[in-house]
Amino acid sequence: MMDINKAPIMNQPIMKEPKMDQPKIVKPDYKEPLILARNLTKVYKTQKTRLRALAAVDIDIYQGEFVAIVGTSGSGKTTLLSLLAGLERPSAGRIVIMGRGIHRMTEEQLVDFRLRDAGFIFQSFNLFEILTAQENVAFPLMARGVGKQERMERAKELLTRFQLGKHLHHKPGELSGGQQQRVSIARAIIGEPSIIFADEPTGNLDSHNADQIIDILRDISKSRGTTVLMVTHDVERATHADRIIKIEDGRIV
Ligand SMILES: Nc1ncnc2c1ncn2[C@@H]1O[C@H](COP(=O)(O)OP(=O)(O)O)[C@@H](O)[C@H]1O
Ligand SMILES: [Mg+2]
Repeated sequence: MMDINKAPIMNQPIMKEPKMDQPKIVKPDYKEPLILARNLTKVYKTQKTRLRALAAVDIDIYQGEFVAIVGTSGSGKTTLLSLLAGLERPSAGRIVIMGRGIHRMTEEQLVDFRLRDAGFIFQSFNLFEILTAQENVAFPLMARGVGKQERMERAKELLTRFQLGKHLHHKPGELSGGQQQRVSIARAIIGEPSIIFADEPTGNLDSHNADQIIDILRDISKSRGTTVLMVTHDVERATHADRIIKIEDGRIV
């Protein structure tokens, strides 16, 4: 495990276009897919019905890729993301992330995986309303045992990079949607996770802010080598990803 206290942080402002010759942050280099799923299937059962939300999906995602998973509402995008992130259990199939079988992990191992290796971004931001922007961003570092002063400093540094330096002490309710989503991206990346899982991150934003969020996600994957998995029904913006995976009725098409 990398010592996150010594983890390198980007030295470029994140809102700028990444330079192609910018040195990549050195992370474990997986020639194998970073994320591999085979025959991934999810059936939701209720008392009367049985709904196959995901049907025998195979996926390979490599380190540093910015991948968009695109499909209409109800096609199974959130289900797929939840399974890959270890938030839900598959009904069948296997998921191997960085050599580890996610489908076979105990709850405790899954919690640890999500804490250390994953960052999450949601359509509705999911920030703590009672915490300030800075406290929200610093929050994931608490579980990682980083001391308060360093947590707050690193949160401030990231927020400043996201042009939110004047909003450190504002609570989510005092920020615009675009600002809140930048706070939640800062929170997702502060622990230097290997993978960012983003579910409709632009779904609640106007076009200008949506474009900015896509630029930031792209920059995170290119400058940090972080793998970014974004679910969206926005076909237009998905074209800014490295690769598009289309999903229809629980199948990749
Ligand atoms: N917890 C659940 N229980 C029962 N059915 C569900 C559950 N979650 C999702 N579904 C169903 O699975 C299908 C895929 O849902 P979802 O993955 O949320 O699609 P998307 O994110 O593409 O809109 C839908 O038909 C949805 O109603
Ligand atoms: Mg969804």
